[in-house]
This record gives sequence, C-alpha cells and structure tokens, in this order.
Amino acid sequence: MTTPIGIHDLSLATTGYVLDLADLAAATGVDPDKYRIGLGQDEMSVPGPDEDIVTMGAAAALPILERHGRDRIRTLFFATESGVDQSKSAAVFAHRLLELPAACRAVELKQACYAATAALQAGIGIVARNPGEQVLVIASDIARYEVDTAAEPTQGAGAVAFLVSADPALVEIEPVVGVDTADVDDFWRPNDSVTAVVDGKLSIDAYLDGFTAAWDDYRARGGADIDAIGRFCHHQPFTRMAAKAHRRLAEHTGVDLPADRYETSTAYNRRMGNSYTASLYAGLAALLDGDDNLAGRRIGFLSYGSGSVSEFFTGVVGPDYREHRRGAQAQLDAREPVSVARYRELHAAAHLGSTHDVEIAPETRTRFHFAGIRGRARRYRS
Ligand code: CAA
Repeated sequence: MTTPIGIHDLSLATTGYVLDLADLAAATGVDPDKYRIGLGQDEMSVPGPDEDIVTMGAAAALPILERHGRDRIRTLFFATESGVDQSKSAAVFAHRLLELPAACRAVELKQACYAATAALQAGIGIVARNPGEQVLVIASDIARYEVDTAAEPTQGAGAVAFLVSADPALVEIEPVVGVDTADVDDFWRPNDSVTAVVDGKLSIDAYLDGFTAAWDDYRARGGADIDAIGRFCHHQPFTRMAAKAHRRLAEHTGVDLPADRYETSTAYNRRMGNSYTASLYAGLAALLDGDDNLAGRRIGFLSYGSGSVSEFFTGVVGPDYREHRRGAQAQLDAREPVSVARYRELHAAAHLGSTHDVEIAPETRTRFHFAGIRGRARRYRS
C-alpha cells in the first residue's frame, strides 16, 4: 500500500490594510455592483510600506511551525510572482525569519499564479521518497496593476502556507493529475515593472482553455469521473472567474454542476482580492473553514498561471478536518481600512529600488516587518 501524502496543515495571512471596493467605485465613478456582482469582489488587501511577500509568507507559516515544530522540515518552497530579488530567493529570507534549521533547502518557484501547485507536487515527491520528512510550502503574492485600469479592482495581497506530509490531517492529494502548457501573452510582468501587463479578455479565455485541456488530460490518464468529485476549488483572480470556470466545466462535460459545489471556496478571496499563487489555496482555506460536509469528499482543484500553465488535480478530505480549522476570517477582520487616497499613495510608493538606503519604520500590526534597504540589500525585522 502506498503512503497517503498531502496537506497536513494550512494557514493564511494577509496585509494590515484593506480598501473597500465601494469606495474605489465611488472615487472612479463606477457602479459598485460592477465590482460586487460583475467581478465578485467586495474588498482588497493593501500592503503597508513595512509589508511584502516575505513578511506575509512568514506570518502565514509561523502558526504551522508553532503547531508542528521545525525538526522534520528539510525543504522550504516559496512560490511567488512578486519576487523581491532577481537572484536570492524569498525562501531564504523567510527561512531566517522562521528560524528554520540550517539543514534545510530553501528555493523560490515562479510561474505566475501556478507555482504553488508545482511546489505541492514537488513536495509530495520528496515526502514519497522520505516519508519522515515534511515540506513547507509558502505561496505569497501582491497583485499590482496600473491604477485607473479595468484590472485595478482585481488587485489584492495574501499568503497561504501549507505543510506537505505523510498521513495528512487535512487533504490527501491523489496521484492522477492533468496538465497543460501553452505559450500565450495574456498576463506577464517584465523585469523592469512592478505592475503586471495584462490582456484581460484574452486572460479569461486562456484560463478557460487551459482548464478544459488540463481536465481532458486528467481524464485521459484515468482521473475520477466528474460525478465522483463533490467540491471544486478553482483559481480565483476575482471570484466571478470561479463561476465562469465552473460553468465551462459543466458545458465541457455536459453534466449539471450546481454552484454550491464551489461557492464556499470564494469567501476569503472576495475580501482579500487576487493573491496570485496563494489564491487557489485561500480558496481551499475558505472551503475547509466554511463547509461542514467535506469529510471523505473529493475536491477537484484547478490551478492556473498565466503565460500559461494549468493543472487539474484532486484531493480527499480527512475525516477529522473540522478539528483543524484555522479561522482565517479573523485575519481579514483585523485589517485597518484605508481611504482611496492612502491606497493610491501606497501603490505609487511601492517601487523603492535598491540604489539608496531607506529605513522603513514599523507601521502595520504584522508579525514581521520589512525594514528597508541597506547596502542594496533588503532588511527584515522580527
Ligand atoms: N452590475 C453588475 N455587473 C456588471 C455591471 C454592473 N453595474 N457592470 C458590468 N458588469 C459585469 C459585466 O457584465 C461583466 O460580466 P461578464 O464577465 O459576465 O461578462 C463583468 O462585470 C466585467 O465587466 P467587463 O466585461 O466590462 O470587464 P472589465 O473591462 O471590467 O474587465 C477584467 C474585467 C478583464 C477581469 C479586468 O478586471 C482584468 O483585466 N483583470 C485582471 C486579469 C484577470 O484577472 N484575468 C483572469 C484570468 S488570468 C488569471 O487567472 C491569472 C491571474 O491571476 C491574473
């Protein structure tokens, strides 16, 4: 019998600030229902000057280490689209903040919003070879577009950390997966830009095409019948996209798929906004926290990263998952509201560069703080 491997624990963190999208709509003369209903978004997390992907990622991971210890972790994967250095991985910064053992590899993975799923699969491979080890995966991103564009209300920020382990308490990941890679210019971020370049309509089509291709590959490789998948968790750049994905799968398979099979997964992303690599796993956090009937059920996951890579995979929820709920809602409730003017100021100041030393004072109530640039290198405070 093969050892079950999957997600043993999972934890979410987000920023200290939040913008109500009704305020953004009022400031830009847009009907607020366009954001609330048309995009399925209510709020977006806004990072303070002392926050970045490393501080959010470490904050997400810390509770997991406090619950399970550090001794078995020999690998830290950090998945992100919004890397803070072209060479040094965000994983190395997080490794120090989290006081992980030196005998641990620390690596960053990138493929737009998809890389956390590559980290999950690589982690499963490592644990399969050495079932005594655990792999810590951190997915953390800040979604930034130009202001006054159609993409502006789909920004956001957040991190999800999860522990890959044998005999997982939360979700056993099944071995059959479907994958698809297609070279498409739907969304990307050139090295000299802090904001993403996006062809919004093309990105929606590319996502849906990637989904059906990954689904077809999954089925061709012996994946479960659609009727044997009780819940779905789709990548959510904005939560209405999950509705589009769900509808596409129903059309593609010719099977009626009621909305209650995915809707609970949108609860956190509606309030956090896009968190790129973390978004799919924030969907899982919301599903595990909000759905009381998951024990033994199979969840279908659609991971999509523009550019593009898609993966469809499944996991079966453990019998005692309700004992492991983490209540990420409190994190969202703790954010401090900011005005549109303050959010825009923070957005404009996001690119510090590295040529001048800058000291950043602690400002938000985050557990770890970005402290600025000294000697061209990034500094952090615990
Ligand atoms: N009340 C209710 N609904 C309204 C409305 C109102 N007053 N006004 C408009 N709407 C609806 C529209 O009918 C439309 O609905 P449908 O999608 O069902 O047609 C929806 O609101 C969006 O409106 P528009 O069609 O006018 O679209 P837009 O110009 O506002 O752009 C967008 C939307 C393309 C998603 C844009 O926000 C964008 O570019 N976002 C970033 C890219 C993105 O997230 N792409 C997703 C796939 S790529 C991916 O997944 C990777 C990733 O994470 C980035």
